Amino acid sequence: MNPTKKSGRARVPKAVVSVNPGASANEAYNIIIARGLFPKIPSLVKSIQGKKRLKIHRVAVITDSTLRAIYGERLSAMFGGDSCLLHVPAGEASKCREMKNYLEDKLVEAKFGRDSAIIAFGGGVVGDLAGFVASTYYRGIPYFQVPTTIISQVDSSIGGKTAIDLPSGKNLVGCFYQPKGVFMDVDLLDTLPEVEFVNGLAEVVKHAMIRDRKFFEFLEENVSRILSKDKKVLVEMLGNSCDIKADVVSQDLKETNLRKILNFGHTVGHALETLSGYGLLHGQAVSIGMAAEAYISLKAGYLAPEKYTRLYKLLRKFGLPTKFPSKTPPERIVAAMGLDKKNEKGRVHYTLPSGIGEMKRVHGKYGIPVNMSIVEGALKQLARNSDGA
Ligand SMILES: NC(=O)c1ccc[n+]([C@@H]2O[C@H](COP(=O)([O-])OP(=O)(O)OC[C@H]3O[C@@H](n4cnc5c(N)ncnc54)[C@H](O)[C@@H]3O)[C@@H](O)[C@H]2O)c1
Ligand SMILES: [Zn+2]
Repeated sequence: MNPTKKSGRARVPKAVVSVNPGASANEAYNIIIARGLFPKIPSLVKSIQGKKRLKIHRVAVITDSTLRAIYGERLSAMFGGDSCLLHVPAGEASKCREMKNYLEDKLVEAKFGRDSAIIAFGGGVVGDLAGFVASTYYRGIPYFQVPTTIISQVDSSIGGKTAIDLPSGKNLVGCFYQPKGVFMDVDLLDTLPEVEFVNGLAEVVKHAMIRDRKFFEFLEENVSRILSKDKKVLVEMLGNSCDIKADVVSQDLKETNLRKILNFGHTVGHALETLSGYGLLHGQAVSIGMAAEAYISLKAGYLAPEKYTRLYKLLRKFGLPTKFPSKTPPERIVAAMGLDKKNEKGRVHYTLPSGIGEMKRVHGKYGIPVNMSIVEGALKQLARNSDGA
């Protein structure tokens, strides 16, 4: 459970966020956020092993090809003789059955048994894949996450969702499996390509917009420090963002209502992602989706124009796109949204902001069906401003 009061969030720099996914105390874990954590990973694992009474005699570090090229030697030196370092090719295509099989075969070959643990060192691809491997290897062995992208730090490392993709769709096979600990070293972000860094900021802005006005103000005040990777500001930013996701997830484990607010920007965003053939990065699509859905909220009479403008400006200041790609007409976006698997009884539901840090509820529900004429009108109006982003 989240230990920090909401009102104190934006001002207090913090390095630890507790996540309690609810089912049992055994599933609770801490996210540690700081500079210089990387070399301390073995001792952090040891200390959690002691506290949680885990039997871990060997660790397998799983990473991707890009990270192995940068950090491989340091990872090998850090864990020593009995451990092993495995990698998959960088990119979404590795979140697949073949790579899961490959990793399992390698673990068996290296004689890893039930007294072993996995360390997922990488972005969301490595985290989702290695977490899924850990969940079924020997019917489940402990794993730890060392997320190295903003997306994996503020999103995929919280909530315990693991998965692989099938040729017919993303994340179709997977399970909930909580890590024993998450270690975020902000220094690792130094090597993250700029486009990936900015991409992740879309989810950070989303967290502020759906839940925390003070955190939104913090982001507005610190745009240049964040973009220049000021480490103190990054620790605070990640702490607040993780805190919000952990809080929402632990209050609504089964996604019955509150958790739906995490979908802000994702209804339009997923449609854009699909239509772009995944040419748009997820955060870029969500950024355009947030601008569009906030505009729908404005047109539906839920959001004041100046609040819409603040969101729009913050996204632009971070260098995130806010306008539809010129090749994507609004009619196609509307049609693609109609196919979204999250639709209820064939109707598209939106989660819409009613202010900075507040989401609209209708009859107590956060998922709101919106009149199609409002959606189409809003998207057409926005499309006239297309900048080909
Ligand atoms: N489980 C969840 O709840 C959840 C939530 C959100 C996203 N996801 C999943 O996360 C995945 C996307 O994650 P992502 O955006 O982190 O992508 P990613 O894991 O593909 O990483 C992006 C790229 O950055 C490189 N990289 C990562 N960290 C680096 C670093 N510190 N230095 C240099 N290069 C680095 C990687 O090699 C990769 O090429 C998707 O598969 C998505 O489905 C899962
Ligand atoms: Zn997302």
